[in-house]
Amino acid sequence: MLKNIRDQFPILKRKINGKRLVYLDSAATSQKPQFVIDSISEYYKKYNANIHRSSHVIAKEATTMWIDSHRKVANFINADSYKEIVFVRNSTEGLNLIANTYGRQNLKGGDIVVLSEMEHHSNIVPWLILQKEIGFDIKYIPVSEEYDLDIGWLKELIKNGGSRVKIISVVHISNVLGTINPVKEIVEIGHSVGAFVMVDGAQSIPHIKVDVRDIGCDAFVFSGHKVYAPTGSGVLYCKESILGELNPFMGGGEMILSVSKDSFEANDIPWRFEAGTPDIESGICLGSALDWFENVVKEMGGWDKLREHDVELLDALFNEFDGIEWFKVFGKSSAKERYGVLAFNIEGFSFKGCKEKVKMDGSSIVEYLSKRGIAVREGFHCAEPLHDRFKVGPTMRVSVGIYNTKEDIQVFAKTLKEAVLSSY
Ligand SMILES: Cc1ncc(COP(=O)(O)O)c(C=O)c1O
Repeated sequence: MLKNIRDQFPILKRKINGKRLVYLDSAATSQKPQFVIDSISEYYKKYNANIHRSSHVIAKEATTMWIDSHRKVANFINADSYKEIVFVRNSTEGLNLIANTYGRQNLKGGDIVVLSEMEHHSNIVPWLILQKEIGFDIKYIPVSEEYDLDIGWLKELIKNGGSRVKIISVVHISNVLGTINPVKEIVEIGHSVGAFVMVDGAQSIPHIKVDVRDIGCDAFVFSGHKVYAPTGSGVLYCKESILGELNPFMGGGEMILSVSKDSFEANDIPWRFEAGTPDIESGICLGSALDWFENVVKEMGGWDKLREHDVELLDALFNEFDGIEWFKVFGKSSAKERYGVLAFNIEGFSFKGCKEKVKMDGSSIVEYLSKRGIAVREGFHCAEPLHDRFKVGPTMRVSVGIYNTKEDIQVFAKTLKEAVLSSY
């Protein structure tokens, strides 16, 4: 871990009931460094103006920064051009955009959309909504007992379903299991029958180097707020040759070149998909956040060092609970096979959303942690089908960011043990 990195995050100095904040909920949203907070404030102090419209000085400056931020994102994920980068509010909006454009334009009854059993709801519900209208089939790549995607099953489906498989949309890193999926292989399998392949990178972008050209996917989405950028910033990457053929998702200002009473001419990409006044400061500061993040990763010694940091933290967590019977890990039991998140159950307790009656209410545990400044998440983490698949009730989840330390893990473990033992 980089020395002084924690000092860059003002919120980490916060005390809750006299205890320091131990933030272990970065998979939900990351905290923001002073650099990003300053860039938001600088935007409002110096450049606040609407983009792509007026010709006055600050409007031109804001527009230039907006376009530059698209370029920074393109470089960050190794896209070919900023034209492939659509700014949306979050991953959810990116996934919905593709379902409602590529999906709506290309799917018909009898076609197949392939998802997986470990998807976040935002990569399930948009397809269920569209399915009601169009009537295609949705098939889920099974998750094996070892918590891996069953790629053999996918190959078999492609062999039998062939060209009926029109879209494959899968998560890169699961927000519950923390497992990384072989997305490059999935892309190759999908492309062998001409399917469009999308990757949900909401949880991969803060933990690994993402290279969309290497993955080969047709689309990739992520949320800026999970990678140290402000809320309201998100990205849809889509290959230029495909994005250029898509109809607009939303109509309004700036997504057009001209409008008459009877028709309109759509703008060029990516602006065709950025209708209305966007979250300007969030989009601009996403670029600043990625600059900051890249610099920090470089100072750490590269992406491998960031990975080492994440593994060390989860390793420490596994060690803290080694041999403890009531601590039931959901997913793989090795830090090396997980990326940034660890979900678990506490035997005998049930968390928010539990459908069965279990002995004790886990909200007392959550409350115990929360009062002592510890921020973790409990529930289904918007991945209910995955919990159902393993007949596991809602879980508690620890997730780490670049600012977490082994001390955070120790404080969490000690407090959780106290909470559980005092409840029995
Ligand atoms: C894997 C995954 N996909 C999609 C999302 C949705 O992200 P957002 O709420 O920023 O749209 C999340 C959020 O936690 C996620 O973990």
